[in-house]
Amino acid sequence: MRVIDEKTITQAAIEQMSTTENPRLKQIMAALVQHLHDFAREVDLTPEEWIYAIGFLTQVGQTCSAYRQEFVLLSDVLGFSSLVNALNDKRIKEGRGPKDQDTKSSLLGPFYREDSPKLQLGDSIAAHEHQPEIAYYGRVQNAAGEGIPNACLQVWQTNEDGKYDTQVYGGEDTDARATFYTDSEGRYYFRTVRPSSYSIPTDGPVGDLIHAQKRHGMRPAHTHFLISAPGYRELVTALYMATDQYIDTDTVFGVSASLATEPAGDATSPFPELPSVRYDFALVAARAGETSGRVGADPAQLVKRAAEVVR
Ligand code: BEZ
Ligand code: FE
Repeated sequence: MRVIDEKTITQAAIEQMSTTENPRLKQIMAALVQHLHDFAREVDLTPEEWIYAIGFLTQVGQTCSAYRQEFVLLSDVLGFSSLVNALNDKRIKEGRGPKDQDTKSSLLGPFYREDSPKLQLGDSIAAHEHQPEIAYYGRVQNAAGEGIPNACLQVWQTNEDGKYDTQVYGGEDTDARATFYTDSEGRYYFRTVRPSSYSIPTDGPVGDLIHAQKRHGMRPAHTHFLISAPGYRELVTALYMATDQYIDTDTVFGVSASLATEPAGDATSPFPELPSVRYDFALVAARAGETSGRVGADPAQLVKRAAEVVR
């Protein structure tokens, strides 16, 4: 009979799972067990600590609802969501030419809503009175630098107080979010309020964790963009205010240098009277099986997808 001890147990567990039919599930679970066991050995995990961790994860699950995904938030503050996005971006680049540079992705976050009002180019996304006003404009273009007409841009952001409309109106009203379509040359332009930095939701177990770690829990001010067009890979990204005090210490690691912008006077802006950000978004042509990395919204969809993977 084999001896199971703190070293041999890892191989025994991996062997017992080796009958898994789905090859990807088999690979992922074997690596997970290996790393999880190595982790327990490295920190010499005690039963009390493991029970505490299980209690924490139970609370994370119990905090989830139709409107809140505490597991995604946990993944965000551990840097795991951004890591998975970065791996996806890297995979997308493999096998493509150097000109096929798409815009870097960033986190979708929990405040995305599919039902944002459809506005006309040039409109303000602020449904309520907000100051100061800024503008965004540019093009959605392909690898050849050609504008993509009729590309769909969904944008959402906080108001000047760092609050999303869902936090202010609880789903009863929308503000500072909209859907636009690019014109025949792939151009987009709209007005908005300058967003503010804000705290991620800290009233749950993830908040307890980041407080215990003495982290500020803040995200630098940003505007989210979800951009899609038939035949192109969907892009989930955000533009960050480069001068924000949290630009280098984002709690969820969503900022990349290429996404840091700052509204400034710009005579070529469609709104020359407003501080404007010009940003051209690049989409790559879609290949079969590619996904955008759209993780973060709609908890029900996440559960459904997880069930499909295991089946
Ligand atoms: C957001 O940008 O909306 C966000 C992303 C991750 C966690 C919390 C908020
Ligand atoms: Fe956000």
